[in-house]
Amino acid sequence: MQRKAQFPIERLLLDRWSPRAMSGESITEQELMTLFEAARWAPSSYNVQPWRFVYARRDTKYWTTLFNLLVPFNQSWTTTAAVLVVVLSKNTFPWNDKPARTHSFDAGASWQNLALQGYAMGLVVHGMEGFDYEKAKRELAVPDGYTVEAMIAIGRPGKKEQLPKELQEREEKSDRHPVNLFAFEGTFKH
Ligand SMILES: Cc1cc2nc3c(=O)[nH]c(=O)nc-3n(C[C@H](O)[C@H](O)[C@H](O)COP(=O)(O)O)c2cc1C
Repeated sequence: MQRKAQFPIERLLLDRWSPRAMSGESITEQELMTLFEAARWAPSSYNVQPWRFVYARRDTKYWTTLFNLLVPFNQSWTTTAAVLVVVLSKNTFPWNDKPARTHSFDAGASWQNLALQGYAMGLVVHGMEGFDYEKAKRELAVPDGYTVEAMIAIGRPGKKEQLPKELQEREEKSDRHPVNLFAFEGTFKH
């Protein structure tokens, strides 16, 4: 479908999307670090920067560990990804160990920075919740006090025809609800 903004916004925000077709090529260390650099500049409450990323490039000893966290559906299209990432966040403020209410919100902002940067660089960046969160904690040696938030598949764009058949039909940009369904003046509206 052709995406159309109701109100004028930056082109990048409208054009970014989550393809599944990737070519199987690797990305450079420079490109990967540029993505994390984008994540680095996200805003966060008290500038606490609670996001953490654990990543694995394909063809490294870490790949299988991250790949095996994914549900079969996500495994079916991420075999051609270049990098898998697990996004985590620190639950508490470092100076007093009190709960940091917005740790997930802040990690979400950093993931979106990464996604937008990746799209601008011509890369596929695709968020995933279809994986085993408990297993991720165990296998990645995540300490107590951190939340496993999501995973990300990153790669170079590939041909839609190389995806499993049922995914080829879903390989297109999606629409969004209109603004008045989620932005309310004054009080919450149902
Ligand atoms: C946190 C998060 C989890 C997601 N989980 C999955 C997933 O497990 N598998 C998948 O194929 N897509 C997943 N997606 C992709 C979403 O379905 C996609 O972002 C959404 O449909 C909007 O489409 P767009 O990103 O192309 O604009 C996820 C996206 C986000 C942000």
